[in-house]
Amino acid sequence: MFLLKNKNYIIQPLKCLLVSKTCRCYSDSVRLVSMKNKLKNGPGLKNFIESSTHPIMVDRPYIPYLANVEYATKRKVYFDIYGCQMNLNDTEIVWSILQNEGFERTEVEDEADIFLVMTCAIREGAETKIWHRLDHLRGFKKRREVSKFKQRPVKIGILGCMAERLKEKLIEKEKAVDVVAGPDSYRDLPRLLALTDSGQTAVNVLLSLDETYADVVPVRLNQDSVSAFISIMRGCDNMCTYCIVPFTRGRERSRPVSSIVDEVRRLADQGVKEVTLLGQNVNSYRDITEHTVKHETKLAEGFKTVYKSKMGGLRFADLLDKVSSVDPEMRIRFTAAHPKDFPDEVLQVVAERANVCKLLHLPAQAGSSAVLQRMRRGYSRAAYLALVRRAAAAVPAVGLSTDMICGFCGETEEEFQETLSLLEIVDYNIAFLFPYSMREKTTAYRRYKDDVPEDVKKERHSRMLNVYRRKCQMLNEAEIGNTHLVLVEGSVKKTGQLMGRNELYIKVVFDQEEILTEDGGKRSVKPGDYVAVRIVSAKASVLSGIPLYHTGIREFYRHVSWADRGTARVPL
Ligand code: 5AD
Ligand code: SF4
Repeated sequence: MFLLKNKNYIIQPLKCLLVSKTCRCYSDSVRLVSMKNKLKNGPGLKNFIESSTHPIMVDRPYIPYLANVEYATKRKVYFDIYGCQMNLNDTEIVWSILQNEGFERTEVEDEADIFLVMTCAIREGAETKIWHRLDHLRGFKKRREVSKFKQRPVKIGILGCMAERLKEKLIEKEKAVDVVAGPDSYRDLPRLLALTDSGQTAVNVLLSLDETYADVVPVRLNQDSVSAFISIMRGCDNMCTYCIVPFTRGRERSRPVSSIVDEVRRLADQGVKEVTLLGQNVNSYRDITEHTVKHETKLAEGFKTVYKSKMGGLRFADLLDKVSSVDPEMRIRFTAAHPKDFPDEVLQVVAERANVCKLLHLPAQAGSSAVLQRMRRGYSRAAYLALVRRAAAAVPAVGLSTDMICGFCGETEEEFQETLSLLEIVDYNIAFLFPYSMREKTTAYRRYKDDVPEDVKKERHSRMLNVYRRKCQMLNEAEIGNTHLVLVEGSVKKTGQLMGRNELYIKVVFDQEEILTEDGGKRSVKPGDYVAVRIVSAKASVLSGIPLYHTGIREFYRHVSWADRGTARVPL
């Protein structure tokens, strides 16, 4: 009976047979022979039926192959998270899967039985940090092994992009690693961890064409946070020549609209006030499970892709419309985006919905058309600037953010000057600025020379930062006297002041005060409140203000006009 009811119960033990000390889940023919032998000699149906009376059978299959069956119960996991917001959300997915299997979580290193490191491979610097952390964990593991207190052995798992990039090399190089799991194999983690109990290392780095974890409800690591992240799509098909992401996260695929809307609703019910829709390219989102609309993706003039345009299904504009309709008092943000995917429909939803934040992420990457071409970005400087103008015209008081890379292969001083001039011309409220880091496997690695010396990259990077900081200071100072709608997140440890973010995700700090409520009373401010704050002083990365009154998104914009909401302009 149990066999029929629980498919996992049959499949799991069979899969386990495939893995030996050095092997990965994808088996080769040698392993197939070995599996056949093991199947012949391994436990039969009896073992499974016997196991149905095992005490832990109630909610978890008993696995007779594994020496230590206590593979999930009460084992404490410590998460280390590196990289982007997507990694934070992926960790919440992993935690959901493990919690379901009876694992516990700890934030105290000494209590941990398993360290799971969610990794990033985008630049060498990100990986270096992780190698240092692994050095520390290796030492911790050794100390635990020789400890006289008979503690359980420590296991180390590497998850995410670096796991995918380095695969078995990670185990060869880093002998202390027990599990390597790529971004599409988190469902397999309980099994991979189970295998480590018998001293095996376990690797699953298979990429999938359709895994979106749509049915896994992420468990938020910070339950008190007023904001949450939702992955709406995974992977990337753009193949920018410098970028490792298409190789570590695989092909682009989107989650069905309905599962995203359900998650937003659930978060709204839990009191979450801000949701950020996440993906490598959120705006190339397509729910192909919905066959209601037959829209072809129309790119704006001057933009092109390396892949065929998508047909049918629901587009990002449709998703944004549905998600922002769940709760008009919930702020909606989205990142990351690609400049090619900002059709008028998307700009229109952003402009029309008061709860969709007016900050558009338009990662330019470079200001020179020649560099953009080598990067295979699919647009020229002129096309990018035309998009900025179109966005400014469509969305009143729009704010902009960007990513820029300096020192890409062959970048001349003149070409770099064009990046600086883009930073001057466009008023970016937020910019992420990076020196180029050559990544194996990418087209740039195969086709170009990483010929800008490191010291030149460093120097160009600091010149970009200088322009950016000066511009931010100027933009922020222009906000003095304006009133911003601030969603309060918590307090600043050092000063005890309250901290929140305005529409453009810029930090706003102010003193705690009892201020007017909508019904005419007074109360102090707490996390999750929307407060109207008058800006009185500005630094490059933070605004200071005076709290005026409690409010809500709809209420605030009834009184404060779009033009006066205190945000950026694009003077082009
Ligand atoms: N070197 C430097 N920066 C990179 N990025 C992506 N790949 C590289 C690389 N090899 C930057 C891009 C991207 C952001 C997430 O990281 O600007 O938008
Ligand atoms: Fe990387 Fe380009 Fe895809 Fe962004 S769009 S993840 S930079 S390949």
